[in-house]
Amino acid sequence: MTGSGGREHALAWKISQSPLVNRLYIAPGNAGTATVGENIAIDATDFDALRQVIIDRDIDLLVVGPEAPLVAGIRDSLRACPQTRALKIVGPDRRGAQLEGSKDFAKAFMQRHGIPTAGYCTVTADNIDAGEAFLHTLTAPYVLKADGLAAGKGVLIIPDIKAAKTALREMLAGQFGAASRKVVIEEFLSGIELSVFVLTDGHHWCILPEAKDYKRIGEGDTGLNTGGMGAVSPVPFADAAFMKKTEERIIKPTIAGLQAEGIDYKGFIFFGLINCNGNPYVIEYNCRMGDPETEAVMLRIKSDFVALLNAAATGTLASHRLETDPRTAVTVMLVSGGYPGSYHKGLSISGLYNCIGSELFHAGTKRSGTEVVTDGGRVIAVSSYGSSIEEAAAQSFLNAEKIAFEGKYFRRDIGFDLRKC
Ligand code: AMP
Ligand code: GLY
Repeated sequence: MTGSGGREHALAWKISQSPLVNRLYIAPGNAGTATVGENIAIDATDFDALRQVIIDRDIDLLVVGPEAPLVAGIRDSLRACPQTRALKIVGPDRRGAQLEGSKDFAKAFMQRHGIPTAGYCTVTADNIDAGEAFLHTLTAPYVLKADGLAAGKGVLIIPDIKAAKTALREMLAGQFGAASRKVVIEEFLSGIELSVFVLTDGHHWCILPEAKDYKRIGEGDTGLNTGGMGAVSPVPFADAAFMKKTEERIIKPTIAGLQAEGIDYKGFIFFGLINCNGNPYVIEYNCRMGDPETEAVMLRIKSDFVALLNAAATGTLASHRLETDPRTAVTVMLVSGGYPGSYHKGLSISGLYNCIGSELFHAGTKRSGTEVVTDGGRVIAVSSYGSSIEEAAAQSFLNAEKIAFEGKYFRRDIGFDLRKC
């Protein structure tokens, strides 16, 4: 497995439970993944080093956690080498990863395959006039997205047209580096968002438990956007009727579209959806699992996850069924003071061993001697089961209080909006 966040710890935790696993390595991992497998100190985007480890340790299945190596072509690179050609890989090739790596590709793909999404216009330095004209056809607020990967920061939602035009020019001039030399302007969709995850072998798919994440730093969904402050699964409004529409209108045509375009997609597809009056629309695709959604979703998978991953990688998913846990899972993320702005690293963490009744997934931690210290803005995800959102959230809050590091902060309202649904 590659990656080093809470998502990877949660995936590694689930993978480590399978009797099919002899050895589990995480590159580079964190202090949490080291408790369920062996960390290997190489970067997830260092393909040469990774290839060597795969050969040396006789690794047979690779799960790619984050998007960057997928977009950079990790699958293509390993497939091109005779010694790693037969490796089973959960993660699409470079073309498939374009669903996340290029907003323009994703929008054009959805348009080609009739998948419901917001109206859009792609703008470069060569057609700014067309971009401004498109802005005039929309009503406020205006959604501007950097085409390429921008570490989750490349989307601007702007209340007035004058500011939107200025932002468009600034983005094209390189506000987000090469990622915003192309900008996608989108119609604003209003509704409540959720994350739907599919594991596919390119032909068949398995819908994993859905989740809702909480992106803003402040309670009541206020303040700056973060990598995610918590998650809830299941999502009460994602009832059978909504999920049927999602499968028929979005999942099926996406997989069929990938096939029609000759993209052999084996891996996760994360559909970032918005529920507009009971109808699902795609806000974005990602070519990986969500973080912190995975920290809730993994609690709800009862099947042997490695059997599913193997099946996705080998094209045999049709013969597998997913068994899920009916309980609710709620994840609360503990972050460092100052996050998502600047924050300190290397702060000593205590209380990790007192947290009975929750799973702790390390997001940004590392070992320093005998201690576990902070190593990122998001530090620890506390995930708990409950018979309701209230019960699961209460359990996560209880343990969130027990963990201590200087400047610790967490949202005490994760799931509260859904309780009212
Ligand atoms: P993305 O990176 O494309 O998921 O966008 C980040 C966030 O911006 C989403 O989670 C939404 O909250 C918001 N967003 C993106 N596109 C739209 C849209 N067309 N309408 C409304 N909100 C949007
Ligand atoms: N939680 C949203 C993401 O992983 O992109």
